[in-house]
Amino acid sequence: PAFTDYQAESATISQGVVEANHAGYTGTGFVNYDNVTGSYVQFTVSVTAAGSYPLTLRYANGTTVDRPMDVTVNGAPAAPGLSFPGTGAWPTWAEKTVTATLAAGTNTVRATATTVNGGPNLDRLRVTAPSDSQPPTA
Ligand code: GCU
Repeated sequence: PAFTDYQAESATISQGVVEANHAGYTGTGFVNYDNVTGSYVQFTVSVTAAGSYPLTLRYANGTTVDRPMDVTVNGAPAAPGLSFPGTGAWPTWAEKTVTATLAAGTNTVRATATTVNGGPNLDRLRVTAPSDSQPPTA
């Protein structure tokens, strides 16, 4: 299916740093969330047609402790407390997908850490078209 990738290192970052010291990321690196509640990465996502889009976050969590995040779209909850469990090691990446409604035009998708451990390391957001007839546009 058609999709568009948005790299975390190119997104708006609040309380986090871009790093590239763990292999397996896409693009030029990933975001290491500061280990604080409220740290976030916010993506600007544009689609031509309103609809329900799978949003896939690619992440790594080298600890054994979940790093849940609130996912919001245009400020509204889309996936509160979404779980980002341990992936076994920092260079081991996994994906979590939620489906959310996007408006035609520009949307903001924000993933905010909800615990003092901060978020997982975040590689990218992939936005998949609801159908091949409605490809997202970058
Ligand atoms: C380690 C790891 C980082 C990670 C951090 C954390 O320092 O190298 O990539 O972000 O732990 O616990 O958040």
